[in-house]
Amino acid sequence: MLLAAFSRAEGFPQWAYPPANKPKPGPADAAEVSPPVGLPGTDLRFAEGALHDGYLAPDWFPDSHPPAPTPVLKGRRGEVAACGYCHLPDGSGRPENAGLSGLPADYIRRQVAAFRAGTRTSAAPDYVPTRLMAQVAANATDAEIDAAAAYFAAIPARAHVRVVETDRITGVEAKAFLLRAVPGSGEPLGDRIVEGPEDFERFERRDPRLVYTAWVPRGALKRGEGLARTGGSGRTVACSTCHGSDLCGGAGAAGPPLAGRSPSYIFRQLYGFSTHARGGEAALPMQAVVARLTQRDMIALAAYVGSLTP
Ligand code: HEC
Ligand code: HEC
Repeated sequence: MLLAAFSRAEGFPQWAYPPANKPKPGPADAAEVSPPVGLPGTDLRFAEGALHDGYLAPDWFPDSHPPAPTPVLKGRRGEVAACGYCHLPDGSGRPENAGLSGLPADYIRRQVAAFRAGTRTSAAPDYVPTRLMAQVAANATDAEIDAAAAYFAAIPARAHVRVVETDRITGVEAKAFLLRAVPGSGEPLGDRIVEGPEDFERFERRDPRLVYTAWVPRGALKRGEGLARTGGSGRTVACSTCHGSDLCGGAGAAGPPLAGRSPSYIFRQLYGFSTHARGGEAALPMQAVVARLTQRDMIALAAYVGSLTP
């Protein structure tokens, strides 16, 4: 409740940039050795520690993707985290970062270069996930980025989010850089997207098969579809002009695929273009596209594109 009141007063969509809210480890936790853990659908087991070492990406389903190049599965300690730690080894991504599978290799390289140059930042300067990506971009070599870009581009994109409209939501918790619905007495959803995993333990174990639910305001899908298809009588420009007829990108599309991607990620991008936190020459067309959109419009567009099949 406090968060919502604060963000309205400031006009800043604080809800889209949830904090980590990590529990402080007690003195007992450090000494405790827990047995290796697993996931449904695989016999592999990993020690808890190995799941949270950013220089290694736990690869739960190695047969589900082509052989991954080194920088995807293994970083360089103290210098570059493994791409697959955050974006997952198959590039399916998580709401607090981005899905990379199926993005054009050239687009991937250009985005990493924009993070490195500081032209692509977050509208919330203290949003930790973006700062970590900027560190990766600063320290990764061009050869590492080329290898990762070619690899992720060759994997077909896959949606793992279910977009559901609602007026009210049970309760909302900010944790691990996302908002998720939790049991509670209920509160209005308002103008927010609450996108969380179906199972938080599997999320913490970095399960690429996890399905997310994005709760979006009632009416958002239709409103988003209208804006996306027609531009809403001049409020914006039909997205298919540059993102492909089904918003799946493709050869000849100026912009990357959008269909089926995380609505909270998409909202942060639209909002970032509007504040010019996502800037540089390449962002100019999108800055024009969002210039007259309200946050409600951006939520609707994010909900709609997230509901499409990649
Ligand atoms: C510590 C976590 C982390 C690691 C490791 C990481 N990234 Fe990212 N990456 C992010 C986050 C978070 C974002 C979204 C940032 C934003 O939009 O503000 C992102 C965004 C991106 C994007 C933009 C995607 C788009 O659709 O525009 C690309 C491309 C990318 N990362 C490539 C890579 C590559 C290549 C590597 C490995 C060399 C890598 N990342 C490693 C966290 C990470
Ligand atoms: C005039 C061409 C053009 C139009 C029209 C356009 N886009 Fe884009 N869009 C782009 C380009 C180019 C990029 C890549 C920008 C970059 O490289 O930084 C992009 C990037 C994006 C991104 C970031 C994707 C990512 O992976 O991070 C989102 C989200 C997006 N567009 C949404 C939309 C929506 C929604 C519409 C319709 C309302 C739309 N765009 C209309 C050209 C366009």
